[in-house]
Amino acid sequence: MTKVTMDKIVNLCKTRGLIYPGSEIYGGFANTWDFGPVGVELKNNVKRAWWKRFVQEDPNTYGVDASILMNPKTWEASGHVASFGDPKMDCKKCKQRFRADTLIENHSKGKVSAEAMTNEELTAYINENHISCPHCGGFDWTPIRKFNPMFTTSRGTLEEGADVVYLRPETCQGEYVNFLNVQRTARAKVPFAIAQIGKSFRNEITPGNFLFRTIEFEQMELQMFCKADSSMNIYDDYKSRALQFVKDVGLQADHLRFHDHDKLAHYAKAACDIQYLFPIGWQELNGIHHRGDWDLSRHGEFSGKSMLYLDPYTNEKYIPNVIEYSIGADRLTLALLCEAYDEETLENGETRVVMHFNPAIAPYKVAILPLQKNLSDKAKEVFALLSKEFMCDYDEAGSIGKRYRRQDEIGTPFCVTIDFDTLEDDTVTIRDRDSMKQERIKIANLVSYVEKKVKFN
Ligand code: GAP
Repeated sequence: MTKVTMDKIVNLCKTRGLIYPGSEIYGGFANTWDFGPVGVELKNNVKRAWWKRFVQEDPNTYGVDASILMNPKTWEASGHVASFGDPKMDCKKCKQRFRADTLIENHSKGKVSAEAMTNEELTAYINENHISCPHCGGFDWTPIRKFNPMFTTSRGTLEEGADVVYLRPETCQGEYVNFLNVQRTARAKVPFAIAQIGKSFRNEITPGNFLFRTIEFEQMELQMFCKADSSMNIYDDYKSRALQFVKDVGLQADHLRFHDHDKLAHYAKAACDIQYLFPIGWQELNGIHHRGDWDLSRHGEFSGKSMLYLDPYTNEKYIPNVIEYSIGADRLTLALLCEAYDEETLENGETRVVMHFNPAIAPYKVAILPLQKNLSDKAKEVFALLSKEFMCDYDEAGSIGKRYRRQDEIGTPFCVTIDFDTLEDDTVTIRDRDSMKQERIKIANLVSYVEKKVKFN
């Protein structure tokens, strides 16, 4: 089996137009990435699949697209202003900042879980085990402090007196603040969910590993509002649905596992991650959180608006519990890139790099390749036909073998070749990316042939 490394993925993404380093002509901007023509299709397909599964196909889920900039009180209510933060410490020698829990987990090679430790326990462990600075080797730490990862900006034309506003560090607050709006306008009955996909920003202390942890990323989040007595069942249900979804988009079952949290926020009833076996080891892919009635209660308190729900069947009034399901679109895209990557040795001894994406997620569905340039008029007709239905690529440059390789490297499931017989009988050769088998079919049957194979179910 091919050994996938992050370097191989980064390199392929850059050279094949999937993902480039951000602001590259200026020397880059650390931990930002720009999706290129192929990558943007891949990520859009990931987001579409999620939306289809969790919003379109679920009559009890309603989509929103809330503002990134929110009333700053939102972040007081959510607790981000006061206490959101990881335990950070600086090396006094080289001035680098680190997460204390990550230092311990790395030092113990993952054997010690520092997730549940208090600051005193973290400090004691670091001192007893003499954990030195990974950057300069020094052992001279500042006390552990919380560090607020929210980016701030200001609103107002004059700098003095301008109000501080925050770039949202998670999208879910846009769902909580619209609970009353959606419930009333959609005439929604509990249990119902609000979902959205959007950008979030975090001034992460330890960003890195390509798309894994960046400072700007997209989240696909869903908040299910429910009654306390059914909340645990709904939590379990979202655990299974979340797992099924990542399998269906293309992640292998034995590269996935649940990880229950040891340390819960004081209001939370349960929390777990689905982890994926990235080339850097088992890491969080998404979270499922039982948040009790904390979010709506806090927004009720800070806004002065009652978040009480009147049950139309029982006439009971209560503040709904929230089950949250949250997954990063970029992090899932990275997992799919790692899963799809393969280097195959062919019968002639050559190696081909091929991305075995689920066809529904693949950036382009079909590449149209005229065997020779003087077949381009017919090939463009076929492109016009297919591109009405699917994202297609058109390539007439270079040998047919090289053109197949280029499509394999971006994971295009089908290549359609136009040759001289096409002019005679309106048939084309269609080549399957994975088996490399070719068959001859009528142009009139192409759309239905491809359609069946690229649908996300
Ligand atoms: N509203 C809950 C929430 O934001 P989280 O565990 O902090 O929970 C949810 O984030 C998901 O968002 C993660 O499981 C991951 O997929 C993604 N994510 C979080 N921080 C990220 C970052 N810095 N870069 C890329 N993806 C990130």
